[in-house]
Amino acid sequence: MQANRRHFFNAQAAPAAAESAPAGRSAHWHVSDLDFSRIDRQAVERNEDLFFLLVSASFIETGSDTYAANLAEHYAAYPEISAWLKDHWEAEELQHGQALRVYVEAVWPRFPWQQAYDSFFGEYSKLCTVEELYPDQRLEMVARCVVETGTTAYYHTLRELSDEPVLTELLGHIRNDEVSHYKHFLKYFKELQQEAPVGRARIAGALYGRLKELRESDSDVALRHVWAHKGDYFAGGTTRFEDMAQRIYELVSRRLPADLAVRMLLKPMLLPPRVEELVRTPIFRLATRVMSY
Ligand SMILES: [Fe+2]
Ligand SMILES: [Fe+2]
Repeated sequence: MQANRRHFFNAQAAPAAAESAPAGRSAHWHVSDLDFSRIDRQAVERNEDLFFLLVSASFIETGSDTYAANLAEHYAAYPEISAWLKDHWEAEELQHGQALRVYVEAVWPRFPWQQAYDSFFGEYSKLCTVEELYPDQRLEMVARCVVETGTTAYYHTLRELSDEPVLTELLGHIRNDEVSHYKHFLKYFKELQQEAPVGRARIAGALYGRLKELRESDSDVALRHVWAHKGDYFAGGTTRFEDMAQRIYELVSRRLPADLAVRMLLKPMLLPPRVEELVRTPIFRLATRVMSY
């Protein structure tokens, strides 16, 4: 899966590919394991919220290779980290994008995914530069933990919103991958921290700084481009972009598993268990405020 992996999958090819999947690949799920022909379209096709949530997620995941290249470069001095970023993390994020795209195209076939993605990427790629990363490699690991916490919570929530079995299965796979990404970033952070520790105040600053950014830019950019290309889908639905975006943010933030998110967010602080217990409630309140729109 190298060049053009963003484009090569389609709903017809996926089930056929599953038949020829090598047995040894079962350790990690693959997009071709899912039987998209079993989708219960009636259970999902009229769900306007899921349409916007799934398409925008497919855009952001598909745009991951821009970030992955920047990140691998950022950790060039650490071959193990940079190899994991290129060989595992990037491939898995891109597979999230592929699988979501296949799903979206199966349920909403008239949506011009590629055209909409290209217009999204024109804007999004300008936001993904090396300068966006924390110059300190330890703090960037903390920021990655925040991002993976956010995606874990997001897919957990989307899975709860789904009444369609194939989608529920897919979102479960993606959520598990995001938890695994979080664990890797946390492990690498701990290793770097052992080599040359950075103070808790700076860790807290990176946590808070990245958490605040989560609510901005990425998802908003994606939603705007989905909206602009939705064509005649949901013609009788929401008429103003702002109303749709507001409703979606409220829907997601109301259901976010904040307790889980806070536990994950606190881990990079490397606090003694008793202290972690003490600060959990105030941090929970702060995170809920920051994460709710
Ligand atoms: Fe992902
Ligand atoms: Fe991830």
